Amino acid sequence: MLKFNDRGKFGILLFGDIHEKEDYATSPNFRDMQKLMNAALDKYKPELCVFLGDNFDTPLCKKNPEEFVKGLSALCEPVTGRGIPLAAIMGNHEHDPGIDREVLEAYNRIDGVIMRSDGVEGKADFKELVYSRDGKKALACLWFIDSGNVCVNRSVSHYDYVHTDQIKWFEEETEKLKKENGGVPLPSYIFQHIPVPEEYNLLRKAKLWELPVSVRGYNTLKRNRYVGANGVKGYVGEGPCSPDYNNGQFESWKKTGGVRAAFFGHDHLNDFSGYVDGIYLAQHKTGGFRAYTDGCKSCVRYVELDENAPGDFRDELKHFKEFGLKSESLGPVFRTISDRQSLFIHTAFRSAGVIAAVSAAAVTLKYAAERKKK
Ligand SMILES: [Fe+2]
Ligand SMILES: [Fe+2]
Repeated sequence: MLKFNDRGKFGILLFGDIHEKEDYATSPNFRDMQKLMNAALDKYKPELCVFLGDNFDTPLCKKNPEEFVKGLSALCEPVTGRGIPLAAIMGNHEHDPGIDREVLEAYNRIDGVIMRSDGVEGKADFKELVYSRDGKKALACLWFIDSGNVCVNRSVSHYDYVHTDQIKWFEEETEKLKKENGGVPLPSYIFQHIPVPEEYNLLRKAKLWELPVSVRGYNTLKRNRYVGANGVKGYVGEGPCSPDYNNGQFESWKKTGGVRAAFFGHDHLNDFSGYVDGIYLAQHKTGGFRAYTDGCKSCVRYVELDENAPGDFRDELKHFKEFGLKSESLGPVFRTISDRQSLFIHTAFRSAGVIAAVSAAAVTLKYAAERKKK
């Protein structure tokens, strides 16, 4: 049973897109990730940890299930070894080898790890209630949603979306909880790998002079360039890779009421957050050192719920170097520079790319105009 602690708080520590690999036992990238995990666990002492998907390469589960469980245990050990429950959700890469049941079973072989399929057959959707410190009353509901892999019909969307039957399950369960709570929706928090398309509402189209610091939209939005909208905090490092098709999941959250916040993984660079129609959407970047990232900015997000103010929460980000940690896996430049410098270099490279593209387009247009004149 998940409960508020003696101080009336419920702390949740998020790790996004760790992408751990088979060679973990000898890898400096794995050691860096574990340093971050241990430092964050020591600092925050959370009541729950969440892995936001793309956790450990699943092709190993197909090749050698025993080795996969061993690797997964090593990845989870800093959390489970402290006796802290760990909820893990499936990211798109958990689905890659097409053996979802085996992957789920492997997660369930590790003491302290929570991953279930409570709703729609074949989807790892589940929920956990958070009880008052005396254990008598449910005060919040945490939803862990399986956002799938790539879409079966790529002409509809590149990445998959949360399906109608999953949304129906969420709405029915929400209604039951509402009845049990005297007709009032229970404050709810969503944890999901692929972000909803409404994340783009936290961005706005870049003005001409903002192009060098802007990001390109994803897939069907790739003609547009974006920057963070007013009031949005955090770093916009890439266009959110949400589905191209909107299946109404966010509208369902609005309709049912109770959803206070949703936390997403999938985009390794983004850590921006803000409110859309009263619901806090937080994009969480990678906590690992395996997949693409911008230098030393791998980080954790700490979310804290308050028993005395149901529905209220706060969150904060803390990066690898802010813990005073030293990297073994990063190259000499990213190992020594500060987070701010790392971000600047990343932006400078991106700006150089945009300037080069704009210059090339201008020269091409000029050349075409001259040829036409001739
Ligand atoms: Fe990922
Ligand atoms: Fe992903």
